[in-house]
Amino acid sequence: ERVALGIDIGGTNVKVAFVKHDGQVIAQESIPTAPERGPERFVSSVAETVRQLASDNHIDWDNDVLGVGVGIAGFLDYKRGFVEESVNLHWFDVPMAEMFERALGKPVRLDNDANVAALGEVWLGAGRSATTALCVTLGTGVGGGIVIDGHIHRGASTMAGEIGHIQVKNDGELCNCGHYGCLETLSSATALVRNGLAAGLAGEDGELTAKGIFDLASTGNATAQRVIEDMIHWLALGLSTGANLLNPDIIVIAGGVVNAGNALIEPLREAFSKAALQRVARACTVVPATLGSQAGVLGAARLVLQVAETA
Ligand code: BGC
Ligand code: NA
Ligand code: ZN
Repeated sequence: ERVALGIDIGGTNVKVAFVKHDGQVIAQESIPTAPERGPERFVSSVAETVRQLASDNHIDWDNDVLGVGVGIAGFLDYKRGFVEESVNLHWFDVPMAEMFERALGKPVRLDNDANVAALGEVWLGAGRSATTALCVTLGTGVGGGIVIDGHIHRGASTMAGEIGHIQVKNDGELCNCGHYGCLETLSSATALVRNGLAAGLAGEDGELTAKGIFDLASTGNATAQRVIEDMIHWLALGLSTGANLLNPDIIVIAGGVVNAGNALIEPLREAFSKAALQRVARACTVVPATLGSQAGVLGAARLVLQVAETA
């Protein structure tokens, strides 16, 4: 049976999974990313892990594995397979597709983390019936992916969908990208926590988390509620800009904060429907992602399976 290998490179962990044409995961594993050891050692340790995983699961590496799809945060060049600026990992100008090709002996496709997550959600998750989907991930940063008729839309330099760097606030804070007032500085999970701390919130037992802020809000904490409202306000503004441009039939919200459920989605829907053009908002449903942390590996594998299907 032929499978694709999906690799989802996050700031803390790397997920790898062997995925069949129907989306079934036959083996998977997660290992620490350890980006500080550099891309060379990173690639060889991932390669070692996946070869071991294959042999443990009776996957014949040479004959069963069609290829490798890789998702990674940051600005990259899909055509050249280069990681150009991955600020969170501190990797710059890395020919990562070629490095994986050499280490694994298989064709490799490298894409943005939010692009592959979007593809995963459209393939098997919340975006299944969509023709024009915008998927936004709220985490350390704010990522975005556009999927049109089942295919990722990348634009001229693999930057299409970078909704986290839409400037929503004049004179806002400095973003990692060098600009000010980006959506990412206001609506990422990181920003939510930073704003919660600045407003005087504290974690239950120690560290304040995005989940902790939603928990506080649900028990009636007015400060937590205000910090969340603020985050949703900016997010709705960013989404409306993206939606007015793209006219999507669905917006999928992904990332750990979607576990907050209706406490996030309902006020977001309301704010979005006011901020976007009416005909845009009416044609678009805003839904939470359903694949959780699996979206990335599944979408990364899909990149490869999709090519195999049309070949
Ligand atoms: C990066 C995106 C990435 C997102 C989520 C942003 O800071 O610019 O490329 O998709 O974070 O990881
Ligand atoms: Na993207
Ligand atoms: Zn930015």
